[in-house]
Amino acid sequence: AMATPACSQLISRGRPPGQTPPPHTAGTTKLATSICHSGVPELEVEALRPVNLLQERNLLPHRPLDAPEPNLNADLKKANCSPDTFRCTLTNIPQTQALLNKARLPLGLLLHPFRDLAQLPVITSSTIVRCRSCRTYINPFVSFLDQRRWKCSLCYRVNDVPDEFMYNPVTRSYGEPHKRPEVQNSTVEFIASSDYMLRPPQPAVYLFVLDVSHNAVDAGYLDVFCQTLLENLDKMPGDTRTRVGFITFNSTIHFYNLHESLSQPQMLVVSDIDDIFIPTHDSLLVNLKESRALVRVLLTSLPGMFSQTRETHSALGPALQAAYKLMSSTGGRVSVFQTQLPTLGAGLLQSREDPNQRSSTKGVQHLGPATDFYKKLALDCSGQQIGVDLFLLSSQYSDLASLACVSKYSAGSIFYYPSLHHVHNPAQLDKFQKDLERYLTRKIGFEAVMRIRCTKGLSIHTFHGNFFVRSTDLLSLANVNPDSGFAVQMSIEESMADTSLACFQAALLYTSSKGKRRIRVHTLCLPVVSQLSDVYAGADVQAITCLLANMAIDRSISSSLSDARDALVNAVVDSLSAYKNTVSNLQQSGLIAPAALCLFPLYVLALLKQKALRTGTSTKLDERVFAMCEFKSQPLQQIMRTVHPDLYRLDTISDEGALHLNDCIVPQPHLLHLTAEKLTREGAFLMDCGSVSPAIKWTSYKFRGLFFEYQSNFNRMYMYSDYMRSFLFHMLIHFITSPRRDDASAKTSFFQHLVEDRSESAFSYYEFLLHIQQQMTK
Ligand SMILES: *[C@@H]1O[C@H](CO)[C@@H](O)[C@H](O)[C@H]1NC(C)=O
Ligand SMILES: *[C@@H]1O[C@H](CO)[C@@H](O)[C@H](O)[C@H]1NC(C)=O
Ligand SMILES: [Zn+2]
Repeated sequence: AMATPACSQLISRGRPPGQTPPPHTAGTTKLATSICHSGVPELEVEALRPVNLLQERNLLPHRPLDAPEPNLNADLKKANCSPDTFRCTLTNIPQTQALLNKARLPLGLLLHPFRDLAQLPVITSSTIVRCRSCRTYINPFVSFLDQRRWKCSLCYRVNDVPDEFMYNPVTRSYGEPHKRPEVQNSTVEFIASSDYMLRPPQPAVYLFVLDVSHNAVDAGYLDVFCQTLLENLDKMPGDTRTRVGFITFNSTIHFYNLHESLSQPQMLVVSDIDDIFIPTHDSLLVNLKESRALVRVLLTSLPGMFSQTRETHSALGPALQAAYKLMSSTGGRVSVFQTQLPTLGAGLLQSREDPNQRSSTKGVQHLGPATDFYKKLALDCSGQQIGVDLFLLSSQYSDLASLACVSKYSAGSIFYYPSLHHVHNPAQLDKFQKDLERYLTRKIGFEAVMRIRCTKGLSIHTFHGNFFVRSTDLLSLANVNPDSGFAVQMSIEESMADTSLACFQAALLYTSSKGKRRIRVHTLCLPVVSQLSDVYAGADVQAITCLLANMAIDRSISSSLSDARDALVNAVVDSLSAYKNTVSNLQQSGLIAPAALCLFPLYVLALLKQKALRTGTSTKLDERVFAMCEFKSQPLQQIMRTVHPDLYRLDTISDEGALHLNDCIVPQPHLLHLTAEKLTREGAFLMDCGSVSPAIKWTSYKFRGLFFEYQSNFNRMYMYSDYMRSFLFHMLIHFITSPRRDDASAKTSFFQHLVEDRSESAFSYYEFLLHIQQQMTK
């Protein structure tokens, strides 16, 4: 699943060895060329403006950068998939691999397929219209030859329009197939028929596996867990069939009989951890509705049951085996809470971290797993439609590189709270509580698969994210959640010279928490170009950065961190050299980038300074591994917020330039460059590092003790409008320095985000540019 780039550079140069191209589909037909704009629109001219990076120092836009708009006609633009769901690194697709190679930019997709949507057309008709040849779902980019025939936008086969499709349920009229929601909206959801089921849809099944060793009790997570679950028991997605169960473990494994007829939950202890058996199959996973009272009793009493424990051992592996056995007949979600290295039974681990190596500027060891136990278990789970989510709550090294495999390959999520403790670090406990609340109540899909198709000529070869690859284009997702992102790398197999448009379609088939089989389909359409300048003009620098980050993580595990870092620098050197030598035609000396890519060196420098990829700055191994996991599994917006957060100054916000929307005044603070030069003693600054979860984390710190002087100003601004309120509430605020315990780390973290500044072990932005320039002349 976590395949690595086969080529020596990060940039793909075609299909990796050992893969055969798909069979040819007959008859390539040219799509109507009139759908693309003729002439060069203004935006593209601006995107190609040569920027002298060493001279132009204010490159940030005033407002957060939007995805570039594909050069399509107004109708296609309107119908196209939201860039929040589906983005391509190149919004102008090069028509051949040779052209792509010339640009020295990576080609790939960034996907956020199950994100929360305010509006989603749901289609319930009995025929789901798909191409008979390539199985693409009908979408806004197909063409209707007449009322009865449509041509597929991926393989160009001409298909019949089924009779039922002639009726439009939205307009309640006949004879307008092109007005159906499937053909109007590029994101739709179908209610699937039994053809799309291998077995009856499973109910929502939730199993919680809880570490109850001394470490766990001492950290205080158990109280928070039980309390939060109690409060959200009825908000977990599901219906009357929803089932829950609990396993706790120390050196032994404990099951809980929650049969509704009992007056108390009954604990069943299995102490033979070498040969796990399930003591009774009946009442360990119970119907939540029927056993609700007993579940509440258990959650109320659990923290007290282990408060006196002296147990230091942890039999995590056997507990996971027990979870697998318990869940294998239904599938569902396993949520594991672990607070230390597993020390007993299958999957036990030893410490591999050498604290003296944390600031090494050379290699970093042990980024990969120490054992294949967790991966194998994950693959077993995936096979039975069980997704395993890991919450690691540990102040000690716990070998996340090994443990994370249980989630990576079962399409799970990974959470990490490195210093959670109810006394020593209440802020982390608070974050855990907020994240857990979001986790318990967010949407979930079960027994899912995702397939990504693209226009003939294009080929997908490497996937990034948490899943199991079932076949070349089919990802197995035992669970799917709205906070996960995916990336794919692509190459161009065959010339696309005879088409003007390329389409990409992601189809996610899943079982909803209410037991309905559904298919969520996203289709993205982009123009195909023949000129190198157009390829540069359409470069999506954020998508490129995120795809490169994913590739660099793979590379640092399969090869080495320094290789991965070199490859990132080379990606900048190569693309700027290629641009200089082929497109710019400039005699001008200096370091020149097309405006579309002017932030590329900055973003790559920022990547090199991330916990995942940095060297020379003390970084705990588990924290590094966690940062790597996040790059591989988060959606683009979240990755970009982490890599290059948005910085604003708040105290100087004025009505000047504010937008007037309805009755609200919406101030428009300008983005600031991430450098201490932009900070002043007197200012109040806000840094938006993002937060996937709408459960907002709000921290405020005094800025050198002056914050309160500005509080009145701040309040004035805060009162501006609802928009402003939500703007602020969606930010993670760091007002630096106050006498609170965790402030030193908040301050450090704030300054670590100032990626344009020099640190003891890393270039400043200006130095980095000089370095790039020097590499280019080599
Ligand atoms: C579907 O597309 C139509 C036409 O573009 C648009 O009016 C409508 O709002 C879309 N529906 C949703 C739910 O987005
Ligand atoms: C582990 O948990 C079980 C079940 O509560 C308990 O009986 C046992 O004493 C615990 N082990 C230790 C060493 O505390
Ligand atoms: Zn087709």
